[in-house]
Amino acid sequence: MKDQEEEVHVSESPEDTRELGRELAKRLKPGDVVALEGGLGAGKTLFVQGLAAGLGTDPGIPVTSPSYTLVHEYPGPVPLFHLDFYRLTRKESVLELGVEEYFDGGGVSAVEWAEKFAELFGPETIWVKIERNAEERRRITISTIA
Ligand SMILES: Nc1ncnc2c1ncn2[C@@H]1O[C@H](COP(=O)(O)OP(=O)(O)OP(=O)(O)O)[C@@H](O)[C@H]1O
Ligand SMILES: [Mg+2]
Repeated sequence: MKDQEEEVHVSESPEDTRELGRELAKRLKPGDVVALEGGLGAGKTLFVQGLAAGLGTDPGIPVTSPSYTLVHEYPGPVPLFHLDFYRLTRKESVLELGVEEYFDGGGVSAVEWAEKFAELFGPETIWVKIERNAEERRRITISTIA
């Protein structure tokens, strides 16, 4: 039986949130899936910007929200697949995106609004929950299986 581990962080600024993403990235390997939950404007995209920086993707290609395009791919030593379920309402559309191929692929996947289709995520998924406590303060809980 593996242990569930929960780390709670407090972010006081957008830069803190990016830094937490950068730190988490150091512990990731291809095939890892980071599922992000937290409402509109919580800071999910900022956290993914940190992941990209930590994975060493090209800093000349800025990480922007894939809300409309649904998925962005960032090449690098460990590629990043950035997905967003916000606009998706049917599980079939999510599967059509090819999520399974991304999750098994040779990179790290980061998914915004993951809780909408939580059943798609396996037990090894790293869940990142961002809660807005104040204008600039966020409580960020990272759950992993050790
Ligand atoms: N501590 C903080 N961490 C993250 N973002 C913060 C923080 N304080 C303020 N913000 C602001 O909150 C917003 C977060 O935006 P971001 O696009 O990352 O959110 P999101 O969760 O991806 O939203 P969406 O659901 O629309 O995709 C930014 O405008 C950012 O400046
Ligand atoms: Mg976003």
